[in-house]
Amino acid sequence: MNSVESTSSDWAERLQACRQTPFSRDKDKRGDDLLGLNNKAASAALQARYGPLFAPLGQRPRVIAQLGQSLDGRIATLNGHSHYVTGSADRAHLHRLRALNEAVVIGANTVVADNPQLTVRAVEGPNPVRVVIASRPALPGDRHIFCDHQAATWQVGSRGDAQQSVARWLDPPSLQPQAVLSELVNAGIQRVLIEGGARTVSAWLAAGLIDHLYLTIAPVIIGAGPTGLQLPAIDHMDQALRPSVARFALGEDMLFRLDFTDALPQ
Ligand SMILES: NC(=O)c1ccc[n+]([C@@H]2O[C@H](COP(=O)([O-])OP(=O)(O)OC[C@H]3O[C@@H](n4cnc5c(N)ncnc54)[C@H](OP(=O)(O)O)[C@@H]3O)[C@@H](O)[C@H]2O)c1
Repeated sequence: MNSVESTSSDWAERLQACRQTPFSRDKDKRGDDLLGLNNKAASAALQARYGPLFAPLGQRPRVIAQLGQSLDGRIATLNGHSHYVTGSADRAHLHRLRALNEAVVIGANTVVADNPQLTVRAVEGPNPVRVVIASRPALPGDRHIFCDHQAATWQVGSRGDAQQSVARWLDPPSLQPQAVLSELVNAGIQRVLIEGGARTVSAWLAAGLIDHLYLTIAPVIIGAGPTGLQLPAIDHMDQALRPSVARFALGEDMLFRLDFTDALPQ
């Protein structure tokens, strides 16, 4: 077995164990985040980065989030351009996060600004259900998630007279993160990735629902534009969040996995 096949099957076995969903295998697809690593190092990298996600679920759903930002904390330019802040290794890493989760959640502004596909293409893996949160019922129906038929798309929020094509509507009592999460759990979702944007990730973090935040910092300075995390102001450094942190090199970027699980009810 050559090195690409062996690393690929290591990833596939781990994925299969936690997703229990069949997916098509492409033995040549290793992922840019593992380039240059031998088999042993690649396996170790997968375990170090995603170990908490490979672990079986406890009593409650697991919620993770991700953001890719510049050295000065920005996720886009002032006019919303964001392709790309981080490098190709981070793209492979993001696709691994999608593959490891049953649902990938984004806010309405990201659908409009980025037109993301939210599928798993840069590594092997099953696509998650794509979930958009919006109180505006009308979103542009020509966005990939509404018309590419690559994976199911659900919308959270009132249906109104929306025209976009959605496999399922969830209508929780509010769009507060806890209400949305309960609705997802009722729909059978236990592993959730909050992919963005800033407002959505920040709301879920402020609500205390994020177990692990994967934050990639690229060596680039944007200078102006929206920042990733936007939390309520604090007066004193003692009030700052200080999660435990694991650090990984990801191509030219640095990946931080912030673990908030100690602070969450089990
Ligand atoms: N660098 C990265 O990792 C990354 C990832 C994704 C996106 N982005 C960037 O992020 C930017 C968009 O982010 P954003 O902060 O403007 O918006 P966003 O989080 O994408 O969407 C915000 C919208 O989602 C709905 N929503 C989500 N959570 C809600 C909540 N808890 N309560 C109420 N409504 C909620 C609301 O829609 P309604 O207004 O319809 O109520 C809200 O206006 C884009 O520039 C995109 O390129 C970056």
